[in-house]
Amino acid sequence: MLARTPTQGRETQMAIIGWQDAFSVGIEEIDAQHRKLIDIINNLHEAMRDKKAKGILGDIVNEMADYATLHFATEEKYLVAFGYPEIVVHESEHNAFTKKVADLRERLAQGTLVLSLEVITFLRDWLTNHILSSDKKYAPFLNSKGLQ
Ligand SMILES: [Fe+2]
Repeated sequence: MLARTPTQGRETQMAIIGWQDAFSVGIEEIDAQHRKLIDIINNLHEAMRDKKAKGILGDIVNEMADYATLHFATEEKYLVAFGYPEIVVHESEHNAFTKKVADLRERLAQGTLVLSLEVITFLRDWLTNHILSSDKKYAPFLNSKGLQ
């Protein structure tokens, strides 16, 4: 039998989410933050797939929550500074996600929730939909203010 190294096979397994050019809002700082969120979701997926310890999964969920908070603050800072007309709707989407992730974090910590593909799919789909619909909507507005 051939010995398998831990990294073997990984290359053949698809990341659950990948960067797409369509995600770009034309603002370097925000694109970089979106890429980082994508990386964290992929790390979480990989850690779950590799059956990592609960503590490690919890750490990645915490990283996700903290980074999302920082990222939303960055976007909102620009939306407020330039007077984006749809700021209230945009912020309420951020707040709903923040609440949902805080709930996940708590339930994972209490042991009343087990991290599943369903949870990771929710994170992926939320991020994808939010970028493609809401973030792309502010992109031309912020670009027109000189942000790139
Ligand atoms: Fe956003």
